[in-house]
Amino acid sequence: MRVLAQIGAALKLYMVGLKVLLYQLFHRPFASPVLPVQCGKVAIVTGGARGLGYEVARQLTGLGMHVIIVDFEFLDLASMDSVRRFVRRFEDRRLPLHTLINNAAVMLVPEGKTEDGFEQHFAVNYLGHFLLTRLLLGVLVRSGTTKACSRIISICSAAHYTADTDLQDLRSMRHYSPYAAYSRSKLAQVLFTYQLQQELQSGGFAVTANAVDPGMVDTDLYRNLSTPAWLAQRPIARLLFRTASQAAGTAVFTVASPELEGVGGCYLYEGKRVQSSAASYDAELQARLWRSSCDLLGLPESELA
Ligand SMILES: NC(=O)c1ccc[n+]([C@@H]2O[C@H](COP(=O)([O-])OP(=O)(O)OC[C@H]3O[C@@H](n4cnc5c(N)ncnc54)[C@H](OP(=O)(O)O)[C@@H]3O)[C@@H](O)[C@H]2O)c1
Repeated sequence: MRVLAQIGAALKLYMVGLKVLLYQLFHRPFASPVLPVQCGKVAIVTGGARGLGYEVARQLTGLGMHVIIVDFEFLDLASMDSVRRFVRRFEDRRLPLHTLINNAAVMLVPEGKTEDGFEQHFAVNYLGHFLLTRLLLGVLVRSGTTKACSRIISICSAAHYTADTDLQDLRSMRHYSPYAAYSRSKLAQVLFTYQLQQELQSGGFAVTANAVDPGMVDTDLYRNLSTPAWLAQRPIARLLFRTASQAAGTAVFTVASPELEGVGGCYLYEGKRVQSSAASYDAELQARLWRSSCDLLGLPESELA
């Protein structure tokens, strides 16, 4: 039963990967229009020390933004304590915050629990970012204006299209499949983005939340593949995956484009707004995930900022 579930989840993920690769084979990478300078603005990029996060940070710095690259040493998203400590340290610096990029992630990690007892993909990719975003909302709200909203961007993945919607059981490792766990954590990020946008809009806050799908990118994210799968992946990655520099384009566009001023609740891929999975638009699922995440973290459901 467990083996079949694992094979099913892996196959679904590989099929989506194949579809993305076919798209990338026939389309040039998104080339962003010239973006306005961002001098005086401050951004936080999680997992910004390498891979896609590093490139996003580098390109935002090129636009004049002050970018705080957060790596493991200062923020371990697997530890909710570490998230709270990081936010306290950031607040001590009394800086504004105009952009938060929830980028860090793990993929296909073996079965295991974090110090808080959560499944690892769930904790790092989703719950740690949920907590980080909630704790930073106050400063994001204070830093935004109606003409220049603060922007929250979550780096999601096409893997979310393959996720099952059994979010009630997100924490547990029943029938653990690393493929299913990664996909579910990415669906959770999209659901969170939409619910957050809804809450921000109804509260009248000058902050927007969007999801960005970078496509398939040649980074170390694939390091947990089995050795044969990794060896098979290398030539394909060199040929068909986007480089981190190319893939960063949509995230940077989402941060700085005037076209997206005041626009939230979108799923962006290759610089365009596209449909995410049907499940991600399920308002009941969004609300349920929001409530259970608040419960798990001891946060109030409202009182956003
Ligand atoms: N690569 C792709 O094909 C692809 C496709 C779709 C979506 N994405 C998404 O793109 C984003 C960036 O991934 P990437 O491809 O750049 O992968 P990557 O090169 O593996 O980078 C992931 C980053 O996350 C950090 N990280 C991992 N665990 C962490 C933790 N517990 N606390 C804090 N930081 C942690 C890593 O830090 P360390 O270096 O210290 O480990 C690293 O900086 C992810 O959200 C991923 O899901 C990637």
